[in-house]
Amino acid sequence: MSPQSPSDLARSGSLQELYGKLGEVGMGAGWNKPTPSLWPEPRKTFVPVHWQYELARGALDAAGRLINTELAERRNLILFNPVEGNPYATVRTLVAAYQMIMPGEWARAHRHTPNALRLILDAEPGTYTEVDGVAIAMEPGDVLLTPNWSTHGHGNRSKSCAYWLDVLDAPLVQMLEPMFFESAEDETDAVPDDGAEPPPGAATRNSPFVFTLQETLRRLGALKPEPNGPFATQIELGHPALSTAALYMMRLAPDVRTAPFRTTANNIYAVVEGAGATTVDGARFEWRRGDVIAAPAWRPHWHEASREAILFRVTDEPVMQRFGWWREECPATH
Ligand SMILES: [Fe+2]
Repeated sequence: MSPQSPSDLARSGSLQELYGKLGEVGMGAGWNKPTPSLWPEPRKTFVPVHWQYELARGALDAAGRLINTELAERRNLILFNPVEGNPYATVRTLVAAYQMIMPGEWARAHRHTPNALRLILDAEPGTYTEVDGVAIAMEPGDVLLTPNWSTHGHGNRSKSCAYWLDVLDAPLVQMLEPMFFESAEDETDAVPDDGAEPPPGAATRNSPFVFTLQETLRRLGALKPEPNGPFATQIELGHPALSTAALYMMRLAPDVRTAPFRTTANNIYAVVEGAGATTVDGARFEWRRGDVIAAPAWRPHWHEASREAILFRVTDEPVMQRFGWWREECPATH
């Protein structure tokens, strides 16, 4: 096709002709867009979803048999939001994944620009994460951070498989483009030399990269219950724990029903303890320990506990706040 000159464009005799010529020079008519660029309020792009830990455990146990130890750092199940064209993100900016490592395995150390955290679901003593060379013991209910560019690997010297939930801001990093990743070990080095692994019992519990369940329970216990707010009784882990994600632990007493709220921030909830239900924009999900719920931006939601429960909340609220886009409201009706 011949290149369009200014006078070719200027001579366009009809809009259809002009649109055709504009297409050839890489421009589009703003008054004739196929889809709008602005809309009155957040769209329901991502949907409310519930994932069951019990199902994930079954699948991970199969993966333990079917894929080898060299892939231990990738033996995870990505909780992708089932909307068209999305194979990865759980909500727009965050991805959650269940991961398992088997006894004697070492998930090789690496670093990346996405910020990551993990909620430990099941792990026996001897399971640890190494962050910048310091081994941190993993215990159920703990939250471990591996921020942007920190070198991290995971080891399991216990006799049982260890399971946790990872959450990363990788979808946000993919969108904004500053993705860097590098392995800290030789790809063929599946298990570190004896000297490279910490001896059993040497892993610390005292690190700025871990929020222990014990400390979470102590802090929650010191608070006056707030059964009627949107968060029940809530503490924040860090402030914010990661530059792109704030982390909260909420305690719900039996029969508590939180006030519905919606926020421009995206929320992922994981069940640390207990049982109950979360309703997200009309979809009611009954949950148990280890389950995950996605409450995408601007979807009203609330929680009920059928027995004492602790919910872990991961939210991209710091991103929304930093850029002046954070809005939150409690709709009047339940
Ligand atoms: Fe990682």
